[in-house]
Amino acid sequence: MNIFDINPNISRAHTLSSKFYTDERYFHQSKEKIFARSWQFIGTTEEIGNLKPFTILEDFLDEPILFSKDSTDNLHCLTNVCTHRGNILVENDCLQDGIRCRYHGRRFALDGKFLSMPEFADVKDFPSKKDDLTKIPFGVWQKFLFASINPSATFEIFTAEMRHRIAWFDFDKLSLVSARGYEVKAHWALYCENYLEGFHIPFVHQALNETIDFGSYTTETFRFSSLQTGISKTDEDAFDLPEGAPDFGKNIAAYYFFMFPNLMFNFYPWGLSVNIVKPVNSEQTKVSFLTFICDETRRTKGAGADLHKVELEDEAIVENVQKGVKSRFYESGRYSPKREQGTHHFHRLIAEFMD
Ligand code: FES
Ligand SMILES: [Fe+2]
Repeated sequence: MNIFDINPNISRAHTLSSKFYTDERYFHQSKEKIFARSWQFIGTTEEIGNLKPFTILEDFLDEPILFSKDSTDNLHCLTNVCTHRGNILVENDCLQDGIRCRYHGRRFALDGKFLSMPEFADVKDFPSKKDDLTKIPFGVWQKFLFASINPSATFEIFTAEMRHRIAWFDFDKLSLVSARGYEVKAHWALYCENYLEGFHIPFVHQALNETIDFGSYTTETFRFSSLQTGISKTDEDAFDLPEGAPDFGKNIAAYYFFMFPNLMFNFYPWGLSVNIVKPVNSEQTKVSFLTFICDETRRTKGAGADLHKVELEDEAIVENVQKGVKSRFYESGRYSPKREQGTHHFHRLIAEFMD
């Protein structure tokens, strides 16, 4: 039986098999099949001076890349590996008018083009295209930077619905005030699929449940992303939506955007929390929370008031589920068609990428 056969009809479908979480082979395959083919969050454009090295998903994909900005302010994303014998080219942020490998002195232009190499005068068929630094696909959305090793679809396709829905938001006002890391003893997909349903809110998050109206909580699914919308209870904090915004007239407490397979963009009236889910092994995950604030005075109000508390409640339940999916007596379950569309959509995408 193919475990990646999830019925498109949610009322008939069974959830993803527990084997996906417990069999190491799937964890290993997910690197190339899921993560290398999707878009990963890198940071903000404000961080890019002239040369800036990054590692795509450190300790997992571990792909060394390099952002460079040339004299005309054009951004390039390149492999950070020298085409000679594989040295890492740039180890720290720096200001240079070119890239020079410190191992044997090979030089490249800021767009990755090979320039020169000592002691290579007698080398035949040299230089060739292969001596240039490979360009890595990258995407920019407002002030956020993304890169992908081998994208299964363009950045525009991955982000279209999200960008349109929140286009009215004043991103320029956002500033990064904190970065916090959590370690969760669970498979990365269990962490994501918990995020993808508000079904558990009344059971797991009592305080959050006081601020949002569970009855009108909605989930919409798109090609590679989904959106959950929390409507606030009448006297709780909500967005001041401008006329012309797609949700104008609604009392929205939070937008929870998920971008497959591991990125969460949670918008609140006070700002944005970006959560990046980083697999460590099949039973361990790191989650980074980046907090961007636009209105400090609303920080302690509404659905985004105490994200740390909500996170600990989520972690406790997800770590329990991690133990449960390893049981010999559990294989898979069913979905609530009304409350688990996001989780079903996520499992369908996992199945599509893994097949
Ligand atoms: S590895 Fe870069 S010049 Fe030799
Ligand atoms: Fe939760």
